[in-house]
Amino acid sequence: MNPGMPQKVLPGVKQVIAVASGKGGVGKSTVAANLAMALRMKGHSVGLMDADIYGPSVPIMFGLSVDPKTTPFPVEKYGLKLMSMGFMMDPQQAVIWRGPKVAQMVQAFLTQIDWGMLDFLIIDMPPGTGDAQLTLSQSASLTGAVVVTTPGEVSLIDARKGVKMFREVRVPVLGIVENMSYFEDATGKKTPIFGVGGGLKLAQESGVPFLGELPIDPRVAECGDNGEPIVRKYPDSPVAKAYLTLAATVIETASKPTAEALPEVQL
Ligand SMILES: Nc1ncnc2c1ncn2[C@@H]1O[C@H](COP(=O)(O)OP(=O)(O)O)[C@@H](O)[C@H]1O
Ligand SMILES: [Mg+2]
Repeated sequence: MNPGMPQKVLPGVKQVIAVASGKGGVGKSTVAANLAMALRMKGHSVGLMDADIYGPSVPIMFGLSVDPKTTPFPVEKYGLKLMSMGFMMDPQQAVIWRGPKVAQMVQAFLTQIDWGMLDFLIIDMPPGTGDAQLTLSQSASLTGAVVVTTPGEVSLIDARKGVKMFREVRVPVLGIVENMSYFEDATGKKTPIFGVGGGLKLAQESGVPFLGELPIDPRVAECGDNGEPIVRKYPDSPVAKAYLTLAATVIETASKPTAEALPEVQL
């Protein structure tokens, strides 16, 4: 491959949307999986690329047991096309890889898989803002990025770095999603567990849309472990409804001209 020659990546895909977070454990993969599923439930053709080289989770979240891949075609489940770094390599290995090797794997992942024609490809990005994230952001012709945070300050510091990284590589930030915003009991009383208002604050200070709050629900984790996203398994749950609203917002935001993220930014 000649690095000087830009390759057409993901040729049949209309919108490529990265789901990112500064920090791991904030629910990035859960958001990516449920957003992909919600877009599918709204009638779009959707792929989900699990590019989290250090902690691939699509195989578990969709109950797939696939051997390391030799075919370039994604696996189909619930009408979604799925592909995971976890099919292609041993995540234990990636931890010790240097930047160029990471970039090479990511590049191969982007260019060698045949997604066919898709309305949306959702990319579950690796957490952080290192080589893998930069390579993906620069090479994947991203329509935009959705940044996931939890409400508290620690997660926010890292999410802020994520926003900054996308701006540096001129990828529009479609907005901030706050996950694990509160727990709602049977009486409808909402109790914040991990702090209050961080997502909105980050959106405001970054000048990007706030895409909404996702409640804490133990069934989210249960569904993730059992191979069926909550938006499909319990479509009437408040968290599923929040995902369907998020999908509608993403459809709308992704189709807009990207004026917000394109002005020069001070680095
Ligand atoms: N809204 C939520 N309510 C309850 N559990 C959640 C929620 N979002 C994520 N989780 C759980 O939190 C854990 C971390 O989520 P995950 O999506 O793997 O995070 P990341 O990809 O950011 O590391 C998982 O066990 C997941 O099921
Ligand atoms: Mg993950």
